[in-house]
Amino acid sequence: MTATGGSAAGPRTVGEIMSHPPVTATPDEPVAVAAERMRTQGVGSVVVVNGERVVGILTERDLVRLAASEPAAASIAEWMTPDPDSVAPDVAVTEAFASLAEHGYRHIPVVDDGRVVGVVSMRDLMRIAQIQPADHLAHDVPRGLEGVVVAETTIGDVRGLEGFYHYRQYNAIDLAETRSLDDVWHLLSEGELPDRAQRERFDAEIRPLREIPPSVKAVLPELALAGEGARPLDMLRTTVSLVGATEGFGPSLDLDAAELRAQALRICAVVPTLLCALYRLQRGEPVVDPHPELGFAANYLYMMTGEVPRPEHARGVEQYMIATIDHGFNASTFTARVITSTGADLAAAVVGAICALSGPLHGGAPSRALDMIEDIGSTDRADSWLRDAVQRGQRLMGFGHRVYKTDDPRNVMLRSVAERLDAPMVDLAKYVEQRAVEILAELKPDRKLYANVELYASIVLNACGVPREMFTPTFTTSRVIGWTAHIREQAADNRLIRPSAQYVGPPPPQPVPPVE
Ligand code: ACO
Repeated sequence: MTATGGSAAGPRTVGEIMSHPPVTATPDEPVAVAAERMRTQGVGSVVVVNGERVVGILTERDLVRLAASEPAAASIAEWMTPDPDSVAPDVAVTEAFASLAEHGYRHIPVVDDGRVVGVVSMRDLMRIAQIQPADHLAHDVPRGLEGVVVAETTIGDVRGLEGFYHYRQYNAIDLAETRSLDDVWHLLSEGELPDRAQRERFDAEIRPLREIPPSVKAVLPELALAGEGARPLDMLRTTVSLVGATEGFGPSLDLDAAELRAQALRICAVVPTLLCALYRLQRGEPVVDPHPELGFAANYLYMMTGEVPRPEHARGVEQYMIATIDHGFNASTFTARVITSTGADLAAAVVGAICALSGPLHGGAPSRALDMIEDIGSTDRADSWLRDAVQRGQRLMGFGHRVYKTDDPRNVMLRSVAERLDAPMVDLAKYVEQRAVEILAELKPDRKLYANVELYASIVLNACGVPREMFTPTFTTSRVIGWTAHIREQAADNRLIRPSAQYVGPPPPQPVPPVE
């Protein structure tokens, strides 16, 4: 086996750094033969071929699995990963390793024109790493921590290159298509989807928790008045803090898992009630108490408007809510985990997460996306509006994503929800989406910019009667379920999150100048 070294300017493509020729085997060969071949050739995998076609990959991990079982008459076909993903030799190294890291693969066959020409592996990455000075590596943390793995989680994950994300072991979009929000809440909170009896028990537990504690309810009118003109989300920060204080939430460090679970359910159940109460009080309207018969989204719309919503509107909002419960280590989730890692109380972590979510680069974008669609107004104005905005260096709200470099699956689902609802401006939004993606590809050719969840979220929420100032608050009602699952996971296996920064100011120590 030989590995091609990189050029003087550093390796650029998979073809330059892959191991080749690849070590291969056929599916009918015994695993022992493949293992021996790996050992003698010093590689961690064999590519399984049928003629020239790749049909599988057998790796060291598969051998470990095999060793842990009854190794009877094992053939390669039984233990290999069939139809593995492959990569072309001209793909950039960074892209190949993003894919390795994202999928947890250690090896990918390199296939050129249907023929296997090599294998690229984490070992090859290590080979590149060894030629970098150690101090460079120590400081080479990407800006914005992009791609940095900071924890292990069983809650869910996002695969940005594939346009896929999941809650526990289920595709999140499948859950949004088929389940109620309470079922998915149960999945995140309890670790599994409920059966009928579990659903009834969970329902009976959470519905009373929607009520605002009396001492908080008593001060809400004063608070709403004091915060006149404030956004409902800003007021929510204060009231979540108050609920935590009045209900005696102690430091998570001192609590057992059952106490933290109870607090998590309490906060998730009461956040929609608080938001709607604040929204109505600020408009001089009386608070509408939770409706015990209505599901999560229908009750939310009811508390906001005072009317039982049309079922299709409740379902549209519910699907949006399910799709936004969790999404990897986004800024607000990370904030919640950092705060929890200090042992602080659950309400403190949720308040911090609300603050992070409120920013326009995170959860604050949907109302701006709707403003943009409205401002564009008609298809004939779209091109010049979009081109002008991008050329002036503006960010198009509802476009771009840190992780997705393809269609955001939430956006795809919400587009179809918007179509189903025959939502106002849906045709214009579709045209703007198509032209914006084309114009961004033309003006920023080295970026992969697509519409994100916020674009059709704004169209769907608007169609379901949610006012613009309640868009980001509505996002909060579902994301708090994800935050609290992460808070509980962090608390259950905690270590203080305390990274480092690279100091780049004037060299210390310098003499302190005398006082003038
Ligand atoms: N419009 C125009 N250009 C964009 C956009 C956009 N929406 N998004 C990214 N770019 C450009 C940037 O200008 C940058 O180009 P440059 O290097 O030539 O300046 C390049 O693409 C990469 O941008 P980054 O800032 O590195 O991307 P990052 O991963 O940090 O940002 C973010 C992701 C914040 C979502 C960004 O795409 C953005 O600002 N989008 C608009 C706001 C938005 O829609 N937010 C909602 C996000 S979804 C959510 O949080 C639920």
